[in-house]
Amino acid sequence: MEAFVLRSARQLAADAQRRILREGDTAVDCTLGNGHDTCYLASLVGETGRVIGFDLQPDAVARTEERLREAGLLERCELRCAGHERIAEFVTRPVRCIVFNLGWLPGGDKSVTTLWPTTRRAVTDALSLLAPMGLLTLCAYPGHAAGEEELRGLRELLASLRPQDFNVLHQRFLNAGPGAPECFLVQRQA
Ligand SMILES: C[S@@+](CC[C@H](N)C(=O)[O-])C[C@H]1O[C@@H](n2cnc3c(N)ncnc32)[C@H](O)[C@@H]1O
Repeated sequence: MEAFVLRSARQLAADAQRRILREGDTAVDCTLGNGHDTCYLASLVGETGRVIGFDLQPDAVARTEERLREAGLLERCELRCAGHERIAEFVTRPVRCIVFNLGWLPGGDKSVTTLWPTTRRAVTDALSLLAPMGLLTLCAYPGHAAGEEELRGLRELLASLRPQDFNVLHQRFLNAGPGAPECFLVQRQA
């Protein structure tokens, strides 16, 4: 049995993704970046599952495509070079898990970061696309101004959801200092 290690916001999100996703499920990665999350999701949904992914930057889509090809997972994925605020145009059926790893592309242009107005739109649409008991995971990075605004907005938006509709969990490392990444898990009720 694998040892339990309390490591990072991203790890907390990944653990929840692993627990919710089954062979044949559909998942959505709203921020492709370097493709680590997409690869992980693609491995969890198996050969008969599907992962739909979004990123604004062609470079991120190319890096993700390459990573998926190398892992033999590309066939089960559909990558879109489009903002996640357009999720409802491309995802039309309820999905089991939707993932946002906010911020900028590691090793890329820091000026292309996720921004609260578009994140708000995307998260609102993502919530309505979740299947019953489906899960939304979000990692937020408040160590810069746009990230701080996103975190504030997310806290407010998610805290306002009716408990009859969604359960919302907010996790943060209390001793990690200011700007440490935080994780939100949101599960749609039946
Ligand atoms: C922290 S990275 C994602 C990391 C990635 N999930 C991974 O595993 O490597 C954030 C990504 O969000 C992308 N992004 C920024 N604004 C976006 C938007 N409106 N829609 C989709 N992606 C966006 C950036 O281009 C960047 O690649």
